[in-house]
Amino acid sequence: MSGAPALRIAVVGAGYVGLVTAACLAELGHAVTAVDSDRARIAALGAGGMPFFEPGLQGLVAAHRMTERLRFTHRLDDAVRRAELVFIAVGTPTGGDGASDLRAVEAAVFAAAAAVQGPATLVLKSTVPVGTHERLRRALAERQPDGGAARLALVSNPEFLREGSAIGDFLRPDRIIVGADDEQDAALLLGVFAPLVEAGAQLLCMNPRSAELAKYASNGMLAARISFMNEMAQIADATGADIEAVRAGVGSDRRIGSDFLRAGIGYGGSCFPKDVRALAHLARQHGLEARMLDAVAATNERHKRLLFDKMASHYRGEAGLRGKRIALWGLAFKPGTDDLREAPSLVLLEQLAAAGAEVAAYDPVAVPVARRLLGERAGLCWCHSAADALAGADALAVVTEWQEFVSGDPAAVQAALADGVVFDGRNCLPCDTWRGRGLQVIQVGRPARDAQVFRAHLTASTMP
Ligand SMILES: NC(=O)c1ccc[n+]([C@@H]2O[C@H](COP(=O)([O-])OP(=O)(O)OC[C@H]3O[C@@H](n4cnc5c(N)ncnc54)[C@H](O)[C@@H]3O)[C@@H](O)[C@H]2O)c1
Repeated sequence: MSGAPALRIAVVGAGYVGLVTAACLAELGHAVTAVDSDRARIAALGAGGMPFFEPGLQGLVAAHRMTERLRFTHRLDDAVRRAELVFIAVGTPTGGDGASDLRAVEAAVFAAAAAVQGPATLVLKSTVPVGTHERLRRALAERQPDGGAARLALVSNPEFLREGSAIGDFLRPDRIIVGADDEQDAALLLGVFAPLVEAGAQLLCMNPRSAELAKYASNGMLAARISFMNEMAQIADATGADIEAVRAGVGSDRRIGSDFLRAGIGYGGSCFPKDVRALAHLARQHGLEARMLDAVAATNERHKRLLFDKMASHYRGEAGLRGKRIALWGLAFKPGTDDLREAPSLVLLEQLAAAGAEVAAYDPVAVPVARRLLGERAGLCWCHSAADALAGADALAVVTEWQEFVSGDPAAVQAALADGVVFDGRNCLPCDTWRGRGLQVIQVGRPARDAQVFRAHLTASTMP
């Protein structure tokens, strides 16, 4: 893709970010070794398997195993020994008090620093709290007092890819953020990203602390937009407004924009929840309050429980759900992934089980992951298709807005459901059409029937 010489690159961590990074760097022409301490994962990758679902990734990995620009190992020393660039893409889950657990990052950085033989740049791709770069740089210097650390540059390069569109996001990013102490430290990395910048990506170079905070601030802002609209949805529910009309009214303001304004049953995934918590923790560490961030997280927790509340209210209390069979469409925290980390579906499954409801769950890709996570339980059956889940069900709950569900056949749903009621936690179903088939569709922040009446009235009154 560029005239720059190919580099020897190691990527530590072959998870969602690491594996995508490794495959995309190979696509850019570099010789990449991806290393993961999970031997089973490496064995599966070596055999052509995929540890998780990400559109297009299996093909890209296979293509670059063929070009021999991508290989896998579980031995970190083997991967980094001759590397010029080492990307650190290991997990940073929530630890105690909401803080980021940095043990994997520290272990990977120190092991890479000890194993690398020539001059190299270590690149922090994992999301880490402000000050981590500086602390690690100092620790590296202390561990290698003979000047060994001078061979090593440490650069921040937070990742912004989204699961479900990760390859496109990596190769065609809105922006690339590089946090470095000086230009020399960043030089190799900037060379790697040059083709992406030439293709239109914005490159933002800043000090490492700013790079670290920019990542958290982006996720905090996106999570805040979702929680804000979810709070508006509660107000809409209470006042009879329609959150979808409100969304159109708000999102058409160019100062606001229309992305990330969909109301629903809350965000999940591996990033927003933990990053909002980590940022709030960071604020408190610095003697600050984090009222907005705490409210964002609390609103989200509330919204994860909202669909159950709507179901209980429909069935005149939780007791009314006992013995009901609920078809559950969607398990992943969003479409395009099989990631279940902090997914709202998990909360709903627990609530329904506690209320004594039976659940028939289906997701286009996440059933195997859910099955591994939750196992076989009484009252929970894993289904092979959306239709399979509907068989014998009283009601349907839509939890993930997969296109397959959005374009589902309401006639088939109507014929299958004993109670004829659909709880749409993502406001993703074309509710007029579904209601037209005789189904009762209950959404988030939307009047049950008024919207339909209003639209009919509007059409009539604008007719010549
Ligand atoms: N998932 C996303 O959409 C996303 C997006 C942007 C940023 N991030 C950030 O990127 C980082 C990685 O996230 P992820 O979702 O890819 O995590 P993940 O849990 O999917 O993958 C992490 C991988 O690192 C491996 N690992 C841990 N310690 C290791 C070590 N010492 N040596 C080798 N391998 C090791 C684990 O076995 C695992 O396979 C996190 O900080 C996350 O916040 C994630």
